Amino acid sequence: MKLVDEAGALAAMRHSQCSVVTVAIDQMMFHEPIRIGNLVTLQASLTYVGRTSMEVRVEVRAEDPIVGEQMHTNSAYLVYVALNEQGRPKAVPGLIPENELEKRRMLDGAERQTYRLQQRKKEQKEAVA
Ligand SMILES: CC(C)(COP(=O)(O)OP(=O)(O)OC[C@H]1O[C@@H](n2cnc3c(N)ncnc32)[C@H](O)[C@@H]1OP(=O)(O)O)[C@@H](O)C(=O)NCCC(=O)NCCS
Repeated sequence: MKLVDEAGALAAMRHSQCSVVTVAIDQMMFHEPIRIGNLVTLQASLTYVGRTSMEVRVEVRAEDPIVGEQMHTNSAYLVYVALNEQGRPKAVPGLIPENELEKRRMLDGAERQTYRLQQRKKEQKEAVA
């Protein structure tokens, strides 16, 4: 999970060219185990960008280096916020989709972000009550 967060943060830092902080990690399901000695590969890509926030999808694959068999073990969506020198949210460049798949992913990301913000509001209300 630490590797997933680090890979996601690096993708967000590359896009925003500044420091970032994790604000949300969506549910993470593990489909296959990662065994000792496996080669672990993480692929992180931006799927949605708001004003200061960035959603990143991280996909994890494990390979048995002896057999050469690769498996998709898990994936997750994480949200990072770009920070300025004062540690406050900073605007980031937009995301330009290059094909239909990327357009679809951005729309899906926007939907997930709307849901997260609804959950955030709910949690804030519950914390006050
Ligand atoms: C990140 C932080 C500085 C943002 O400050 P804030 O006062 O909440 O600022 P905002 O409400 O303007 O939110 C900034 C952005 O984050 C997004 N955001 C905030 N909380 C979110 C959540 N739970 N899920 C998804 N996005 C969230 C907002 O939508 C906004 O995005 P946008 O500019 O693209 O619309 C502050 O929330 C913080 O420090 N959080 C703790 C983060 C942390 O310690 N992480 C380490 C975990 S180990």
